[in-house]
Amino acid sequence: MTTATLDSSLPFAPYRQLGNDELCQRIAKAKQSLGKSLLILGHHYQQDEVISHADLTGDSYQLSKLAAESPDCRYIVFCGVHFMAETADILANRPEKRKQRKDLHVKVVLPDMAAGCSMADMAAIRQVESAWDQLSEVIDTEDLTPVTYINSAASLKAFCGKHGGIVCTSSNAKAVLDWSFAQRKRVFFFPDQHLGRNTSLKMGITNQHMPVWNPHEEELGGNTRQAIEESKVILWKGHCSVHQMFQAAHVDQFREKIPGIKILVHPECPQEVNDIADISGSTSKIIETVQKAPPGTKWAIGTELHLVNRLKKQHPEQEIHFLSPLVCMCATMYRIDLAHLCWSLENIVQGTLVNQIHVKEDVARWSLIALERMLTVK
Ligand code: 13P
Ligand code: SF4
Repeated sequence: MTTATLDSSLPFAPYRQLGNDELCQRIAKAKQSLGKSLLILGHHYQQDEVISHADLTGDSYQLSKLAAESPDCRYIVFCGVHFMAETADILANRPEKRKQRKDLHVKVVLPDMAAGCSMADMAAIRQVESAWDQLSEVIDTEDLTPVTYINSAASLKAFCGKHGGIVCTSSNAKAVLDWSFAQRKRVFFFPDQHLGRNTSLKMGITNQHMPVWNPHEEELGGNTRQAIEESKVILWKGHCSVHQMFQAAHVDQFREKIPGIKILVHPECPQEVNDIADISGSTSKIIETVQKAPPGTKWAIGTELHLVNRLKKQHPEQEIHFLSPLVCMCATMYRIDLAHLCWSLENIVQGTLVNQIHVKEDVARWSLIALERMLTVK
């Protein structure tokens, strides 16, 4: 990955001093001047004031598909986190799209480079490669499909591409695991142990056949040879710092306090929460479930705070609670604010790109193989 901040770019500091009204007016003006050449994508966890400027919103899966399809755009400003912008760069610039655009590269911008993902950071490529090498001494890795959650660096997606593996999102994890087991008998799933475990449990795989690989342990990720030999799914010891805050006790408390309440959670939550929830699903499934529910339905929702608060506002006819008493928000995604959005857009208008996310060609090529496998899995 390389980034470009040109010497002549507009400095960020003055944008900090501007009020929201002025920022909104300037964002609208920049959008107007860039017209169809600009696409602003917003993840559901993004704060409302930023979402209001997005051309398209969605979960990780929807946004990656939208980035893959956009025909006219020349700039994607991604109001999400780093791995999402990398995925957009790979998909929007795949060879057939480049050809249609006479080799023009769609430029992807992440308004604040500090908008990373703590879960993605829990698996580094050298740790995954070392794990693979160690595993190959115990089991035949020809029998092992590497599956990376889309919340991972492009280098991990490339690793999956090279080793017959695939990418998944929280919307299609089950379909991706079905695909993987149709190819080979075991799966190596990273970086989110919870999504991997919750999905596999629903498929009838027990924890006994899901050893957890701790990249900080010297020997076999802290496992015995026997555990690896008997494994069906090897789970990476990674998690989302937002979703792991939800606890089974929160579910019990709501059920006791509000009889009839339904518990709706994201599969990045730990097993103890997923097991007792009424419904578990990706951010778009959570939204759809609430949209389709009759007035008067009572919910306690276990996912990122901004999304839950937005649902509360959009559905006053239902009773919506946040599942945790604590503030569980994606602090890195929250770094993308109106000031960063305005700054990045005005730089595009004046032709000085800041915070471009550009995945190296060989990494992009191999990642694309794993991403395209995912896009064809139903
Ligand atoms: P989805 O967008 O796939 O639901 O995932 C949630 C998330 O944590 C994004 O980082
Ligand atoms: Fe990463 Fe969790 Fe934030 Fe999603 S919510 S971007 S998994 S830290």
